[in-house]
Amino acid sequence: MTSNLTDPMDLKRSLEELEHTTLSALAAAGTMDALAGVEAAAVGRESPIAAARRNLGKMQPEERRDAGRLINEVAKKLEAAIEERRDALVAEERRKAIAAEAIDVTIDYMSLPKGRLHVVQQVIDEVCDIFVGLGYHIAEGPEAELAWYNFDALNTPPDHPGRLESDTMYLDYGEPEDEMLMRAHTSPIQARHMERHQPPVYIVAPGRAYRNDTIDASHLPVFHQIEGLAVDESITFSDLKGTLAEFARQFFGPTTLVRMRPHYFPFTEPSAELDVSCFNCDGGEASCRVCKGVGWLEMLGCGMVDPNVFTAVGYDPDKVSGFAFGIGVERLAMVRHDIDSIRHFVDNDVRFLNQFPG
Ligand code: PHE
Repeated sequence: MTSNLTDPMDLKRSLEELEHTTLSALAAAGTMDALAGVEAAAVGRESPIAAARRNLGKMQPEERRDAGRLINEVAKKLEAAIEERRDALVAEERRKAIAAEAIDVTIDYMSLPKGRLHVVQQVIDEVCDIFVGLGYHIAEGPEAELAWYNFDALNTPPDHPGRLESDTMYLDYGEPEDEMLMRAHTSPIQARHMERHQPPVYIVAPGRAYRNDTIDASHLPVFHQIEGLAVDESITFSDLKGTLAEFARQFFGPTTLVRMRPHYFPFTEPSAELDVSCFNCDGGEASCRVCKGVGWLEMLGCGMVDPNVFTAVGYDPDKVSGFAFGIGVERLAMVRHDIDSIRHFVDNDVRFLNQFPG
C-alpha cells in the first residue's frame, strides 16, 4: 500500500484496500499462527491503520475528524472480523481435540488384576492395629542378630538347647559377644528397645524369625512373630491376662475366652501359654474339627519379664515390672481361617491367596 495517507482520498482508498485484503486473508487463515500474522498486518503496530493514525497530526484540521472516524470504523470492523475468525478457529481446534480423544466405550479392554496383601501381612497389620488402639507403639529390629540379644540379654544360659546349631541358624561363630545368627524369635527386639528407651514402654514388634526346622504341616524355617512388651511402674500378671483377653476378643470375636497354662521361657517368670476358646464350637463340641474336642486353641507364649532381663538392659528391677508375649503370626492365621498346613503360606498358589482378599 503505497499512498499518501495524509490525503483524504488516498486514505479512503488504502483503507478500503486494507479491508479487502484483510477479509480475504482472514478467510484463508486456517491456524492460530496464520491468524496472528493477519492480525499484526491489519491492526498491529506496523499496520497501515497504525500508520494512518500516526499521520492524523499532519492532516489539515478540518479533514482530521473525518479521517479519524474513518480509520476507527475500519479498525473496528477489522477487529471484529479477526475476533470472529479467532472464535471459529478455537471452536475448530476444540472439535479436533475432542475427536482425537474420543474413546470407544464398546471396545473390549484388557484389565490388570489388582494386587493384594499376603494373608500373613494382613494378620500382622490387624494385630498391630489392635495394639496401637491400646496405646502401643510399633518397634523393629534386625533379622541378622547378635547372639547377645537373641539369648544372653534374654537370660538364656549358655547351655540352653536353643543355642545348638541344630536349632538356630548361625552366620558367624566367633567370641560370644560378636556371634551372629538369624534371630530365632522377635524377643531380641525387646532388649534392643529397652536399651535405647526409658520406661514406660509399650511396644509391639512384628518380624520374621528363623529356626533350623524341617518343613511340615506346622513348621517353616522362616516364619513371623509379633513381640509384645509392656514395662511400667506396677504392672501385674492380671494386666497381662487382661490385655491378651482384650486382644483375643478383638481378633476372634467378643465372646472369646482365654485361659493360661504354666510354661517356661528363660526371659519371663512366671511364664505361661495362652489358649483361646475354640471359635468354631465355642468350647462345647467333642466332634469339633478345629479344636478336636479340646475346646481350646493354643495361641501364644507370654509371661512377666524376668528381673535378669531388666538388669541386662540397664533397668532397675526393683522400680519397674512388665510383661511380654510372642504371637506366632502363621499360627494365628491358621486358627482364624482354619488352614490345615503352614506350607500354604509359602506355596504362593493364587487359588489359596485369593481366598484372603483383605
Ligand atoms: N520368644 C518366645 C518364642 O519364640 C515367645 C515369648 C515371647 C514368650 C515373649 C514369652 C514372652 O517362643
